[in-house]
Amino acid sequence: MNPLEQKTQRVLAVYPGSFDPITNGHLDLVERGARLFDKLIVAILENAAKEAPLFSVEERMEMLREVLRPFPNEQVDSFHGLLADYAAGNHASVILRGIRAISDYEYELQMALMNTRLAPQVETVFLMSREAYSFVSSRLVKQIIGLGGNISGLVPPVIEERLKSRVGKGK
Ligand code: PNS
Repeated sequence: MNPLEQKTQRVLAVYPGSFDPITNGHLDLVERGARLFDKLIVAILENAAKEAPLFSVEERMEMLREVLRPFPNEQVDSFHGLLADYAAGNHASVILRGIRAISDYEYELQMALMNTRLAPQVETVFLMSREAYSFVSSRLVKQIIGLGGNISGLVPPVIEERLKSRVGKGK
C-alpha cells in the first residue's frame, strides 16, 4: 500500500493559551488548525502565573465558544496544571502554538522541549503568525482599549464589544 494511504489515525491537537481575550492572531491559528487537524481543543490555562486576568475562565470559555462556532471540529476547554499532562490525558498527539517574532522563539522552544520531555508522544507544531497579526497580543489590546485607543480589526467584533463594556473607555 502507498505509505501515504496508511495514515488512518485521527489527529487531535490542543491549542493552549490564556486567551484573555482571544485576538485575531489567535483566530487565525484557530482557522488554520481547523484545516490541519481532525479535531482541535482550544484550552484555556486556569492557573496562569501572569497578572490577574481581565476575564474569568468562564467568561473566556463563553467568548471562545462564540468565536469558534463556525468550526465544528473545534471545542473549548480549560485546564490547570501541566499542559503536557492535559494533552497526554486527552490523547492529543499535537500541541499547537503560534510564533509571531523571533522574540517568541526562545520561550516557545524552551516550552516545546520541556513538554517533549514530559510527554514524548505529543509533538509541538508551530505555525508562523500571518504578517497582519504578527504584532497583535492580548496584553497590548487590553492596554490600548484601557487608554481609549481603537482596537477594531485586532479582535473579533464580539470580543471588541465585550472589551468595551468591561473597560468602558474604548472608542
Ligand atoms: O497565552 P500564553 O501565555 O502564551 O500561554 C502559555 C501556556 C498556557 C501555553 C503555558 O503557560 C502553559 O503551558 N502553562 C501550563 C503549565 C505548564 O505546563 N508549564 C510547563 C511548560 S513547559
